Amino acid sequence: MAGAGEASAQALVGSRAADVAARIDAAFDALLAEPDDARARLYQAMRHAAIGGGKRLRPLLVEATSDLFHLSRVSALRVGLAVECIHVYSLIHDDLPAMDDDDMRRGKPTVHKAFDEATAILAGDCLHDLAFEVLADEETHPDPFVRIELVKALALSSGPVGMAGGQMMDLEAEKTRFDLATVTRLQNLKTGALIAFCVDAAAIMARIPVDARTGLHGYARDIGLAFQIADDLLDVEGDAALAGKALGKDAAAGKETFVSLLGVDRAREQAHMLVEQAKAHLHGHGAEADLLRAIADYIVERDR
Ligand code: IPE
Ligand code: IPE
Ligand code: MG
Ligand code: MG
Ligand code: MG
Repeated sequence: MAGAGEASAQALVGSRAADVAARIDAAFDALLAEPDDARARLYQAMRHAAIGGGKRLRPLLVEATSDLFHLSRVSALRVGLAVECIHVYSLIHDDLPAMDDDDMRRGKPTVHKAFDEATAILAGDCLHDLAFEVLADEETHPDPFVRIELVKALALSSGPVGMAGGQMMDLEAEKTRFDLATVTRLQNLKTGALIAFCVDAAAIMARIPVDARTGLHGYARDIGLAFQIADDLLDVEGDAALAGKALGKDAAAGKETFVSLLGVDRAREQAHMLVEQAKAHLHGHGAEADLLRAIADYIVERDR
């Protein structure tokens, strides 16, 4: 049950996330205008996946960290849009029959259900490409050195040393017994790397030297792991109608997660411990980091 502090954290995150979501939807709507030719179906599939749904937590995280450094809202939104492109692509492919074989996502049929598998693969590919197109554009940041650093950081967090590498380990986790250290590494790659990019991107745009980012990196690592533990807890005890996706999938697939290794109660304790640790990493910041603190609380309190 959420206490008073947690309730206000939920309210703060909820209102800011709704505001970010509206701007992300508008940006996708403008970028993905349907062409009047045989590619229309591809655009329809991308729009189906990208517009209207999701918590938009990653763009919110970019904006909350960018606010610490008084960065432009336009830059923050475009970086958030790029991460959301990668995230949505990863969800389209994650739901494919060859991976998790899911029919529902964000309360709607998955892309391969609403369209077909080939279209879903291409829609994912194109959202992946769109992420880097958005980052490389002058509108995102005036300094080309900053833009190339953003491109490199997003590429690293999406590929084999990031999300895709974690997804590979995740498939192996259905077949092999992994210990806690290996599951932690899996989660850090699969989910943590993209979340860490959101925080690091703001530090890149603010030109904060790498050795001055230790606190932010610690915060990002801890909330990233807590976020995936919360996803795994929801898979066991969440409400599918609220989550907008099928649950109970991990146990059915015999997948090793924090929950399978530790049990529900200890996994939840671990997530809460990580959130407290994440907030401790922000000790050098005052009220300007309150949204980041609220996001950390929200990550383990969420019901979807
Ligand atoms: C789901 O991510 C997949 C994971 C990485 C756990 P989210 O829980 O952020 O999904 P949306 O964007 O809100 O739909
Ligand atoms: C997927 O993790 C994480 C991605 C990188 C897409 P899950 O397979 O647990 O995500 P859900 O539960 O389908 O959203
Ligand atoms: Mg999966
Ligand atoms: Mg899945
Ligand atoms: Mg899951």
